[in-house]
Amino acid sequence: MIKTANRIANVEEYYFSKKLAEVRSLDTVEFPVINLGIGSPDLAPAKAAIDALTRSAQQANSHGYQNYKGIPALREAIQKFYKTTYQVDLNSETEILPLMGSKEGIMHVTLAFVNEGDEVLIPNPGYPTYASVSKLAGAQVTTYEMKESLDWGIDIEALKARDLSRVKIMWVNFPHMPTGRIASHTELSELVALARKNNFLIVNDNPYSLILNDAPLSILAMEGAEEVALELNSLSKSHNMAGWRIGWVAGNKNYIDAVLRVKSNMDSGMFLGLQQAAVESLKNGVDWFNQLNDTYRKRKQVAIRILEQLGCSYSKNQSGLFLWAKAPDTVNDVETWIDKILYGAKVFITPGFIFGDAGKRHIRISLCATEEKLTEANARIKKRIDELNPTPAGVHAGKV
Ligand SMILES: Cc1ncc(COP(=O)(O)O)c(C=O)c1O
Repeated sequence: MIKTANRIANVEEYYFSKKLAEVRSLDTVEFPVINLGIGSPDLAPAKAAIDALTRSAQQANSHGYQNYKGIPALREAIQKFYKTTYQVDLNSETEILPLMGSKEGIMHVTLAFVNEGDEVLIPNPGYPTYASVSKLAGAQVTTYEMKESLDWGIDIEALKARDLSRVKIMWVNFPHMPTGRIASHTELSELVALARKNNFLIVNDNPYSLILNDAPLSILAMEGAEEVALELNSLSKSHNMAGWRIGWVAGNKNYIDAVLRVKSNMDSGMFLGLQQAAVESLKNGVDWFNQLNDTYRKRKQVAIRILEQLGCSYSKNQSGLFLWAKAPDTVNDVETWIDKILYGAKVFITPGFIFGDAGKRHIRISLCATEEKLTEANARIKKRIDELNPTPAGVHAGKV
């Protein structure tokens, strides 16, 4: 066998890449698994986007390689979106670079800025890709805690007291996944100030800002952000287009140029039809988002019933596509507990440890399932609890 590169030694296959194969293996026609694990919206994108894609696919001249920087119409649509959503003025020619989702942007930004041995500061709990991509690039990963005692905010005073001189990139993700924490304008401003003082790049990963959030914020709206900040964003969550792979990075021209130097050597542009569809989706207005959020609000009520039945505690102020909750103290090992729910009730919920050790007592429920499915999941879990605890005195939330 040919020996693999050293850089993959510290990186595991992505959790969901493995776990969802197991989940699928438990699926049967009679008793399918209800997947409340992953944040892949099950609702349809705007019809205008689908029409634009199909129209484009039927044109003979749509199928060639595309501009590495995306078509001007897409960058202009993103520019308008930033203006109306976050009151941020961007130059569509120089300050926006379309990507195939925000996930690939994490790799491009890292390759463009991080040297081997540089420190990369990431949230704990946080999206696992920040750590794995940093490790692939040979960076030293250090974490900052999202503190439960601060309603999952960052202890900025504690960060200020740390030696941040070797940090090259700090990843922030507001609204935060998995905790649903929204940052205030003051918090984001303080983080930008910290990046300026310590001379590192701060990147906000912002794909959840339009889900169950009344006040969408961009880090690029903060004073001085143009000197030190980039922002990743995408249509995956907010526009129900996760599988289409459409996102972008925005910020200072020099930083965007550096990312383009990496990206243009890795892919050859996005299919024209997808870009034209994205232009249509970016026209989705207040009514579209109100309807979307009404659906998620209703689902959240059912998801809360699941958490209560499981005996979990949770914050009521969560935004985004998930509910984040603490397992009852009676549960010793949350991963095993989650597996018992999977094998016993055929309901898959994400264990919090995959987001870092600060999440090991927690679980995450996705709202990307219909109210009917969530209700059915709740009924299955109740049935399982009743089977295991037949006497009323024995009923114990932690025992599934
Ligand atoms: C915090 C965070 N960032 C980025 C992504 C990737 O999203 P995209 O589909 O835009 O690549 C996800 C997806 O789950 C996420 O949760």
